[in-house]
Amino acid sequence: MKLLAIETSCDETAAAVVEDGRNVLSSVIASQVEEHKLYGGVVPEIASRMHVQAIVPVVKNALKEANCSLKDINAIAVTHAPGLIGALLVGVNFAKGLSMSTGLPLIPVHHLRAHIAANYITHRQLEPPFLCLVVSGGHSHIIAVQSYTKFNIIGKTRDDAAGEVMDKAARALGLPYPGGANMDKISKGGNKNAYRLPRPKVSGSPYDFSFSGLKTSVINTIHNAKQKGEDIDIADMGASFINAVVECLTDNLQKAAKDLNIGKIALAGGVCANSVLRERCEKIFDKNLLYMPQIELCGDNAAMVGAQGFYEFISGNIADLSLNAKASLPVDKIN
Ligand code: KG4
Ligand code: ZN
Repeated sequence: MKLLAIETSCDETAAAVVEDGRNVLSSVIASQVEEHKLYGGVVPEIASRMHVQAIVPVVKNALKEANCSLKDINAIAVTHAPGLIGALLVGVNFAKGLSMSTGLPLIPVHHLRAHIAANYITHRQLEPPFLCLVVSGGHSHIIAVQSYTKFNIIGKTRDDAAGEVMDKAARALGLPYPGGANMDKISKGGNKNAYRLPRPKVSGSPYDFSFSGLKTSVINTIHNAKQKGEDIDIADMGASFINAVVECLTDNLQKAAKDLNIGKIALAGGVCANSVLRERCEKIFDKNLLYMPQIELCGDNAAMVGAQGFYEFISGNIADLSLNAKASLPVDKIN
């Protein structure tokens, strides 16, 4: 079964053709990074306009690269939530139009479910149940993936997401957008013990995260140093900050895995491209039971939407033309 998948939830316009949830026949991504870099972050209005411009050529390319025409496609999967509403609407309306004109079924896909499903592409043998740390620009969740379409949120951030604080700290250090990836690069070789930063905990909720205090602490340290005319070592501060975020993430994940007695662990979302997070997980979890998407599938792409879309389709999650985009939607809900 071949799915045409579409993703426009943030700043990548992406389309892919995926067979049976695991076999990626094509994956095309038009990134808007260069445009948003000028403003130091994603500008929602610009993102929507750029999706409108890119969606037709991106979908055409995905079909062409897969050696397919719409006649070979069995269903259309689209990210409908969560994300930037104006950005999501471009993909959702395009998919609805395509579904109406071709008669193909329309499958709504939750963005975080898609990030989790990126693992099914990289690891053909992976099947639920497992415990997944989903860390992106907008979310930081520990999720018990009970089946392909059943999710139980074990813990989540009470304030900022891990990716969001990576980006804000990187910006405070003067690094260009996208901050997380740049900080990862520049911090290699930095001393992770050079700066003392807090590891905030949420009292009474051992699996939840709180990153805003850590973000404030970095910003204040940089600000204070500037006022005193002192230099901040960017590599050392980056390494100290990444180490603090990774410790918070992995401490809670390790505790949840132990308490729930779940051996199979997966990572998902843009932040799981982080080299320190990946290395730390390889150290603390059984390597044979640890699953991480290949780096190209950590960030936003449509291949992962096609993977999850397949499992949504076989579980009967098919939308009609009343499908709407939603800026927020819990991962355990479908609309
Ligand atoms: O999943 P994603 O591509 O988009 C959302 O759904 O939000 O995640 C984007 C986030 C950004 O905050 C970005 O800075 C972060 O992932 N990120 C990284 C790395 N690569 C991307 N953070 C740390 N280290 C990286 N190597
Ligand atoms: Zn994402």
